[in-house]
This record gives sequence, C-alpha cells and structure tokens, in this order.
Amino acid sequence: MEGPSTTETFDAFFSDFYLRAYAADESEAEAKAQALAAARLAGCPEGGELLDVPCGFGRHAVPLAAAGYRVTGVDRSAALLEEARRRAGGARWPKLASADYRSLPFADASFDAAVNLFTSLGYLGDEEDTRVLAEIRRVLRPGGRLVVELLHRDQLVLRFREQDWRLLGEGRLLLEQRTFDAAAGVAQTTQTLIDGGGERESRSFTVRVYAATELTAMLARAGFAEVRCYGDLDGTPFGPDTRLVAVAASPSP
Ligand SMILES: C[S@@+](CC[C@H](N)C(=O)[O-])C[C@H]1O[C@@H](n2cnc3c(N)ncnc32)[C@H](O)[C@@H]1O
Repeated sequence: MEGPSTTETFDAFFSDFYLRAYAADESEAEAKAQALAAARLAGCPEGGELLDVPCGFGRHAVPLAAAGYRVTGVDRSAALLEEARRRAGGARWPKLASADYRSLPFADASFDAAVNLFTSLGYLGDEEDTRVLAEIRRVLRPGGRLVVELLHRDQLVLRFREQDWRLLGEGRLLLEQRTFDAAAGVAQTTQTLIDGGGERESRSFTVRVYAATELTAMLARAGFAEVRCYGDLDGTPFGPDTRLVAVAASPSP
C-alpha cells in the first residue's frame, strides 16, 4: 500500500454516497454538543469568528452559528455543501465557502479560532497535510487556536477490526472492510452501502493515520507555538485508547 488516495477518489466518496452513509442517521444533539465543546476548547470568544474546516454537511457549523459564533465553513464537496446550505436554511450565519483547504480564500489573520473535526486530515500525506495545517495557521489571528479531532494510530491498532457493519435507517446496511499497512501508517477502507432491496454500492479509499507524536510534530512544523493533546473535546486525558484532540496555538506577537 502506498500513500493516501487521490483527490478524485476522495471526491467520489465525499459525495451523495457519504450523505447516504452519514447524514441521515447522524445525531444532531451529539454533533451540537461536540461543536460547542470544540469551540470552547479552541478558546473562541462569544460571537467570535470561527473557521470550521472542512465543514462537510454543516453538522457543526450550523449549531455553532445558532449559538452566536460567526462561523465560516469551508469544504470542497459540492454535494456536502449543498446539504449544509439546506440545514442553514438561509440564515446569515454560517457562511459557507467552496474551497480546497490547501488554499483558503481568506486574508491572513481572519479568524479567532478554527476546528478540524472527525478525522479530516490524512487525505494528502505528511507533507501536504502539514501544508494544510500551515494554511489554517495563516488565517488565524495571533494567539488563536486550532482544535484537531481524529482517530490516531494507537487507537486504530488497539481496536482494529477487519470487518464491521452498521444498521442505517430504512433497513439499510453499511459494511466496512479494512486493512492497515503498519509500516506506511496507512489504512485502506472499503465501505459498501446495501439498501433495503439488496442493491450495493462501494467506495474504497486509503488514508494516512497519524500517531499523536507525528501530528504534534506536524503542527510544530506548520508554525504553531504550543500543542496539547486530549482524549476528547471535553479535555479528558489523552491515551492510546481515546480519540486524539490536539489543541495548537498560533504564535502570539
Ligand atoms: C470525514 S468528513 C468530516 C466533515 C466535518 N468536519 C464533519 O465532522 O462532519 C471530511 C471532509 O473533508 C472534506 N475534504 C476532503 N479533502 C478536502 C480538501 N482537499 N479540501 C477541503 N475539504 C476536503 C470532505 O469533502 C469532507 O467533507
């Protein structure tokens, strides 16, 4: 196995397929609680300018805007952004922008804080993912914090299952088959959606799964001054069998 999949492969996954697998069955209350906890951990002031990158179908950006933050969500998936717009229902906030996170369409120092949630790094490989982190740092104000929340290598290895399935609404099934290349630190996943009538549709992709040590080093290379690791968005201690939540501050002047 080599590095992560191509952008075209991810675009084919973060599409109508992803909406069918994740959007309909998601708990809005849980997403709202995560979003508010992430904004707190990021130290975003009340009503502050907050970047949700990538924002997907808006499950965090919409409740954050309702809580009074001036949120901007960015994503490169047209299908997911369309769903985010539908959920925003024409409200003034969040603002939603179609862009690749390698090149954010904002001036330097535009935001008080930023969040990158639900394993939204690892699609580009070490060098380009570090460039994404540097791009997010560029648009943060001095002292502004970024919260990254993801599945990290230790937990992937501890919990590794070659196959898994989840029952979705309307009797649909989501099947997952995985392999992990421990030398390269990349995981390959094939997801298969099986609808009530037995019709199947599959997508496969490969992502780089970072260890906490690697992500911390990448954040430092991207120019962040201080990095802390937690086990969840409420700030519980980090360990091999928790999620990884890294909080990184853009240097103060
Ligand atoms: C796992 S989803 C998580 C989205 C959101 N943070 C959430 O929790 O629902 C990852 C997102 O990354 C987006 N994405 C992948 N590569 C991207 C890129 N190069 N630029 C911008 N967005 C990208 C996808 O379109 C998708 O919405």
